[in-house]
Amino acid sequence: MAKFTIFHSLVINFIIFSISTFHANIVNGIFCEEVTDAIAIKREEKTTHLHFYFHDIVGGQKPSVVKIAGPSNSSSAYGFGATMMMDDALTEGPEISSKLVGRAQGIYGIAAQEDVSLLMVMNFAFTEGSYNGSSISILGRNPVFNDVREMPIVGGSGVFRLARGYALAHTIRFDYKTGDATVEYHVYVSHYGAEL
Ligand SMILES: *[C@@H]1O[C@H](CO)[C@@H](O)[C@H](O)[C@H]1NC(C)=O
Ligand SMILES: *[C@@H]1O[C@H](CO)[C@@H](O)[C@H](O)[C@H]1NC(C)=O
Repeated sequence: MAKFTIFHSLVINFIIFSISTFHANIVNGIFCEEVTDAIAIKREEKTTHLHFYFHDIVGGQKPSVVKIAGPSNSSSAYGFGATMMMDDALTEGPEISSKLVGRAQGIYGIAAQEDVSLLMVMNFAFTEGSYNGSSISILGRNPVFNDVREMPIVGGSGVFRLARGYALAHTIRFDYKTGDATVEYHVYVSHYGAEL
């Protein structure tokens, strides 16, 4: 019984000490610490395949893209330097009227002088089901007239925390008059499915 009591009080002391140490760290402010196993991410990595359509509406009454910067008279026939901000719908089917699953928000710019190759810096912000509120960040090169373009996933949030992977883009419709495009995306993303 005595042994048990000593052991018991040691455990309690240890817990109190741990809590006060943790508390002290917060109170004093710490720049950096190695997290304990208890709060480190231990979930298994999984890979998710996402399939959706991206609608880049350049013309008409309600464009989803605006030009935000660029030279007034580009030195290149391909519009080198033109930079756009987009808030494009992502839908389940190829028609823009089909179910909305998220939005592609970000910037693209014509980054090549000899062809139409874009620098894409964008977030896919999802709104559908368990992906609602989670996002994937893309940073890549997009030579738009290639059949399939591959862009790296550089991170994510929510269920896509610590994401990595790639996105494959394939244009299914392009209107040469307005510049509107519909692009099919297959996204392969490895992530941990963190609960928020
Ligand atoms: C724009 O650039 C082209 C070719 O470089 C030139 O011929 C033209 O005069 C320029 N236009 C203006 C308004 O500067
Ligand atoms: C997504 O989450 C937002 C904020 O929590 C909520 O207002 C919205 O209704 C949700 N959308 C769907 C499709 O569940």
